[in-house]
Amino acid sequence: MIDTEGTGVGITGGTGSERLRAEGVSLGYGDAPIVDRLDLAVPDGSFTVIVGANGSGKSTLLRGLARLIEPSAGEVLLDDRRIHDYASKEVARRLGLLPQTQTAPDAIGVADLVARGRYPHQSILRQWSPADAAAVARALELTDTADLADRAFDELSGGQRQRVWLAMSLAQQTDILLLDEPTTFLDIAHQIDVLDLCARLRLESGYTLVAVLHDLNLAARYATHLVAMKDGAIVAQGDPLAIITPDLVEEVFGLACTVIPDPESGTPLVVPRRSPHHGIRPREGDTPQ
Ligand SMILES: Nc1ncnc2c1ncn2[C@@H]1O[C@H](COP(=O)(O)OP(=O)(O)O)[C@@H](O)[C@H]1O
Ligand SMILES: [Mg+2]
Repeated sequence: MIDTEGTGVGITGGTGSERLRAEGVSLGYGDAPIVDRLDLAVPDGSFTVIVGANGSGKSTLLRGLARLIEPSAGEVLLDDRRIHDYASKEVARRLGLLPQTQTAPDAIGVADLVARGRYPHQSILRQWSPADAAAVARALELTDTADLADRAFDELSGGQRQRVWLAMSLAQQTDILLLDEPTTFLDIAHQIDVLDLCARLRLESGYTLVAVLHDLNLAARYATHLVAMKDGAIVAQGDPLAIITPDLVEEVFGLACTVIPDPESGTPLVVPRRSPHHGIRPREGDTPQ
C-alpha cells in the first residue's frame, strides 16, 4: 500500500499513483455547471474525505466520479481510462457508490438487499455462487447487521438502514468505495463504528475510500486526505493537520471558530466561537450582560 500522508497537498494533475482522477471536469444538471473544471486525484489507498457547506457540490462531484452524471467538460479517469468507456458492470467491479439517499424495492428483506451488491459479479454463465454468499456474510458481519439479515428492510430504523446500505456496498467488493454521508442518521457510537470500519478497510484490505462527511472534527480525525469544497470548487486539500485553520473554516462554512488539538487524537478540533447573543448560560467569571 502507498503511504499518502502529506503527499497529496495541492496536487491537481496527480503523480501517477491515483487510479481515480478528475481532470478539468464540469458537472451539473442544466446549463450552468455546479462543479466547474475541477481537478482531483484521489490518492490510492487513502481515506479521502470531502467537506463543505450544504449545496457546495460534494454529492455532484461524487456522482461524477461514479459516472452517474457525464461531465460537460473534462473527464474522469479510472485506471487511466475514461470512466465512460467502460461497460457498466466493469466500473461496478472496481468502484462502488453509496449515495446520500436511495430507496429500496418494496418489501425486500435485508439479506436480499445486501445480495444485490453482488450483481456486477454475476452473468448468465455465472449465477449465485459460494463466493457471493461469502461476500454477503462478510459484509453483514463487518457492518454489524448479521442479526438483521432475516428482517424486512422497511421495518428497520434509519441507522440500521444506513448500515445495511453500507453492507450492500461492501458486498460489491470493489477496491474503491465512494460514500456520500455514510454516517447520516447514525448515533455517535455508530458513526464512530462506521468510520473505524472505513479506516480498517483501508489499512487491512487496501481499500481506497472517498467519503463526504458533515462532521468536520470526525473528518479531521479519519481523513488521510481532506478536500474542502466551496461553490463547486476545491479551496484546499491535503493533510487535515495542515489545512484546517480558522481562516479555512470561515471561508468554507462562514463560521468563526477556534482550532485546538483534539485531546484524543491530536487532530484539529474546531470549536465554534460563542456569538454575543448566544443564549448559552454564562461561564464562571463572565461579567453579567
Ligand atoms: N438532481 C438535481 N437537479 C438539479 N439540481 C441539483 C440536483 N442535485 C443537486 N442540485 C443542485 O446542485 C447544487 C449542489 O448540490 P449537491 O452536489 O447535492 O451539494 P452538497 O452535496 O454539497 O450538499 C445545489 O445547488 C443543488 O440544488
Ligand atoms: Mg450532498
